[in-house]
Amino acid sequence: MKTAFLQLAEQRRSVRAYKPDPVPDELLQTVLEAGRLAPSACNKQPWRFIVVRDDAARRALGAAYARDWFWKAPVVVAVCILPKEAWVRAYDGQNYAMVDGALAMDHMQLAAAELGLGTCWIGAFDPAAARAILGLPDGVEIVGMTPLGYPAVEPNPRVRSRRPLAETVMKERWG
Ligand SMILES: Cc1cc2nc3c(=O)[nH]c(=O)nc-3n(C[C@H](O)[C@H](O)[C@H](O)COP(=O)(O)O)c2cc1C
Repeated sequence: MKTAFLQLAEQRRSVRAYKPDPVPDELLQTVLEAGRLAPSACNKQPWRFIVVRDDAARRALGAAYARDWFWKAPVVVAVCILPKEAWVRAYDGQNYAMVDGALAMDHMQLAAAELGLGTCWIGAFDPAAARAILGLPDGVEIVGMTPLGYPAVEPNPRVRSRRPLAETVMKERWG
């Protein structure tokens, strides 16, 4: 069944070319609100979002991830986590901050796609450089960054290559 949500999930693509047109504030707020509404373990919400719109600040971020399409997008959002605020599983000490931050990022990416805006999760940035540029204090980490803006290219309509469901869903036990 092709629900509105599945259509949105299919429509969202990683966008690596952006128009310089500004993102209206109402749309930016809507994307950030989607992140705020994301679930988190024990509802700890151990995240903060940094919105970088200033030209010079975005250009500086280019030192942490040297792709023009990244910093030339009109907005960059960095999803930060505070592991000390996150839920920790008692059995094995597993800290869920990274998971929670990923959920916030995913919510924002899907909300952006619904608004016709492009995003691309950036994980391959230099964390030390990004921390310094964003002025992060100790105890705050970056889960990921994304450019946000209007796509300069039409998203490829091909159905993305994903492992078939039959190979993805296990029955009863692993394998
Ligand atoms: C955790 C994570 C890190 C990623 N890091 C990068 C990155 O540094 N640079 C990049 O161009 N794409 C990055 N991507 C985007 C993936 O390459 C992309 O989501 C994947 O190829 C599937 O394509 P789609 O997003 O168009 O469906 C990242 C995605 C995730 C989820």
